[in-house]
Amino acid sequence: MRVLFVCLGNICRSPTAEGVFRRLLEARGLAHRMAVDSCGIGPWHVGKAPDPRAQEAATRRGVDLSGLRARQLAADDFDRFDVLLAMDHDNLEAIEAQRPPHSRVPARLFLEYAGHPDRAVPDPYFGGDRGFDEVLDLIEAASRGLLEEVEAYLEPGP
Ligand code: 4NP
Repeated sequence: MRVLFVCLGNICRSPTAEGVFRRLLEARGLAHRMAVDSCGIGPWHVGKAPDPRAQEAATRRGVDLSGLRARQLAADDFDRFDVLLAMDHDNLEAIEAQRPPHSRVPARLFLEYAGHPDRAVPDPYFGGDRGFDEVLDLIEAASRGLLEEVEAYLEPGP
């Protein structure tokens, strides 16, 4: 299974989701059975590490984001992943606008997995530090929900 997290800049929300979800997979011994990545819609931060505020908030919860680097959503992402998980409605719209005609990969709001069918992970970039903790609370909840679906889907294996 291959999962791509998508936000606007790929320096706050989606790298946080990538780090949190990967750590959950590692804790369950499932990391080798899934591909997890993140990207952004916009070009502004390509090549940069996650925002220091996102890194600090994640570090406080035992998640290291320092090795991640921002990239933009690319046409081949629609072939390389089994699901695209958007942080907010604008991200979802941008994904659909860039979808190649042949692509059938599902794109959904990530917080569906936290039991919030229409809710967004708020963009913390222009806010204060507390926004990053709220982002982490939401992302941790959705990551646990996603993990449950993945565990039900993946058969026991090596
Ligand atoms: P992200 O946050 O989408 O969660 O990575 C943002 C980062 C940068 C910008 C907007 C949102 N920006 O406008 O540069």
